Amino acid sequence: MNSFRVGLIGTGRISDVYLRNCAVFDGLEIVACGSLNMDESRAKAAEFDVPCAKEPAAIIADPEIDAILNLTIPAAHADISVAALEAGKHVYSEKPFVTDLANGRRVLELARDKGLTVGNAPDTFLGGRWQTVRKLLDKGVIGAPTGVAAFVPTHGVERHHPNPDFYYAKGGGPLLDLGPYYLTAMVFLLGPIREVAAMGKKTFAERMIENGPRNGEMMPVEEDTHSLNLIAFENGVLGEMMVSFDVWESETPRFEIYGEDGTICIPDPDPGDGANIFQGPVWYRTRAEARWTERPRPDAPAEWCVAENTHGFNYDARGVGLLEMADAVANGRSPRASGALAYHVTEAMEAMLTSAREARFVDVASTCARPELLPETFPKDR
Ligand SMILES: NC(=O)c1ccc[n+]([C@@H]2O[C@H](COP(=O)([O-])OP(=O)(O)OC[C@H]3O[C@@H](n4cnc5c(N)ncnc54)[C@H](O)[C@@H]3O)[C@@H](O)[C@H]2O)c1
Repeated sequence: MNSFRVGLIGTGRISDVYLRNCAVFDGLEIVACGSLNMDESRAKAAEFDVPCAKEPAAIIADPEIDAILNLTIPAAHADISVAALEAGKHVYSEKPFVTDLANGRRVLELARDKGLTVGNAPDTFLGGRWQTVRKLLDKGVIGAPTGVAAFVPTHGVERHHPNPDFYYAKGGGPLLDLGPYYLTAMVFLLGPIREVAAMGKKTFAERMIENGPRNGEMMPVEEDTHSLNLIAFENGVLGEMMVSFDVWESETPRFEIYGEDGTICIPDPDPGDGANIFQGPVWYRTRAEARWTERPRPDAPAEWCVAENTHGFNYDARGVGLLEMADAVANGRSPRASGALAYHVTEAMEAMLTSAREARFVDVASTCARPELLPETFPKDR
């Protein structure tokens, strides 16, 4: 694969892991970085050996750059993506894809008209953990799937993020922040969503920043911080998802798929630990077994011996979606962590917000292809 030359815009907190990973991915090269805070960008460039730091507009205009990696705050995602596409560059963004659907359509239409590719986080479903779940499902270990459930209780981010305002401002909240991980995984495993229903609650009017230079400062809360959602999939499976910034402690962090013959469980899908979302145990239990089976199990029946995490990416591998997108561009195909998938998940979340606000079931009009498993031939990790 020829090197895919990437310009990074947004050098805040999440950029470190991208810079670290992209430095060792074969076929990707971050050649410039910039943000609204150029001192921060220069420091990141020095720390991670990025050849140059320059203003975002100069990165977007640089003819030597193939793609923009958009790690700005959610409210800026659409503008940066549109500017990148207008300048003839592919774009890969952090989640959420956009904060309103009209902008999402604009991004996808512009990419289509210009023959460019749009990719989007989360790429966690390309991690060994979710790939293993998909293999178990495809092998029929739990029979036909009937239900799915994700419980993700947290107490928000103000204890560890120095600038947590955007998590509580319009466009934030646990649904738009945490929802993309679990909904994207659900669509990867079960296919597109047809209809949703939801309830939401804003528990506190204000919250206190509890770390860093702004310790003690209060922030307004504009979005619901406790979100309960029901999900009907096109294939008839029914799901539920609880995501919260209001729970101090719980034994429920879980992602489970129920099938006619058993259950698959990810016991700790913890969003606070980036690595956990890519790697870790997958359990399954079938009607034939009295106990949970954790993969890998040396004495598992041969037909259940799904190779465990053979693709790698069993660490906080953020950026693997961009690596896979570079391969997709080189081979003239759609990426797995695609803009169309991100749009569909965004529409489902918008529908959940509408449902909670208006107390009614809401259809999800868009659809998308269920991403394929990563092939065994996909470049391995570090
Ligand atoms: N922090 C995390 O743990 C985490 C995890 C997963 C995903 N994300 C997502 O990553 C994105 C960035 O999060 P973060 O925590 O790094 O935020 P951050 O506030 O630490 O950094 C944001 C960066 O974007 C830049 N920026 C903002 N608006 C801009 C604009 N208009 N033009 C150019 N640059 C602009 C800022 O200068 C800064 O460099 C968000 O969408 C977030 O949801 C964050």
